Amino acid sequence: MAPETKAMQDDSSLNPGTFWIMDGETLWSEKPSPQSPACSKCHGPFKQSMRGVSATFPKFVNGQLLNLDGQINYCRTTRQQQPAWGLETKPLLSMSVLISNQSNGMPIMSNSRPEIQAELNAGEKLFKMRMGQANLSCSQCHDERYGMRLAGSTIPQAHPTGYPIYRLEWQTVGSLQRRLRNCMNAVRAELFEPGAPEWLQLELYLMWRARGMLIESPGVRP
Ligand code: HEC
Ligand code: HEC
Repeated sequence: MAPETKAMQDDSSLNPGTFWIMDGETLWSEKPSPQSPACSKCHGPFKQSMRGVSATFPKFVNGQLLNLDGQINYCRTTRQQQPAWGLETKPLLSMSVLISNQSNGMPIMSNSRPEIQAELNAGEKLFKMRMGQANLSCSQCHDERYGMRLAGSTIPQAHPTGYPIYRLEWQTVGSLQRRLRNCMNAVRAELFEPGAPEWLQLELYLMWRARGMLIESPGVRP
């Protein structure tokens, strides 16, 4: 990362993601309808209850593999009786940034627990599978060619520590899935269906591959 981008990420008064944190704080304590409890009603102050939480996702919740966005929507629909927030919408991203920010400086806790093994293997397979007209796997760029330049950008190691990120090119905050869609488009691969299990399997594998690395969210990227 360029030093200016890193400086912007590290200073909350310069990091544009701070506005999403502020929106998330408002949503946290707001009742979504007169009959529905606010997140804070059950979870109390986010600084305590959400500390370290994002570092543990994706994980199985009641038999279902969920990422953080999935868990937020699980609470929205089953505990607040509200419609799920759409992917990449302002409220979902704001809540996701707020919660991820509470794990800043904490290590990613992913480990190969027996119940996630099959999903993890599927994720690793996807990461190593050649795809698209360019016929390249994620691994060929991110394990074999990191540090090299590609069309003006440096190929990173593809660690998901900063997500959701503020991306200067997007002029907004976006999820890890949005970043993965960008990479798949770059190699002209056909995208998985929205909500397909492959997205979560890849996310799980990326978190496992980055286990022990520290969360730095919201990241700022070029
Ligand atoms: C009616 C109570 C209730 C409400 C309202 C509620 N939740 Fe939850 N939530 C729970 C319970 C119960 C769990 C599972 C036990 C736990 O981990 O605390 C949970 C789990 C979670 C987790 C996972 C915690 C972990 O350690 O893995 C997150 C994140 C979360 N909720 C976010 C939210 C957000 C964001 C909102 C508001 C949009 C919300 N919840 C609203 C009851 C609630
Ligand atoms: C042709 C090489 C190439 C392939 C193939 C590729 N990527 Fe990327 N990826 C990049 C580049 C270049 C960037 C950084 C772009 C930038 O800085 O704007 C990136 C960024 C990322 C990031 C963001 C890392 C960060 O620090 O924010 C992740 C995560 C990622 N890729 C995952 C994947 C996955 C998963 C696949 C396979 C589905 C994949 N990539 C396929 C080149 C590639």
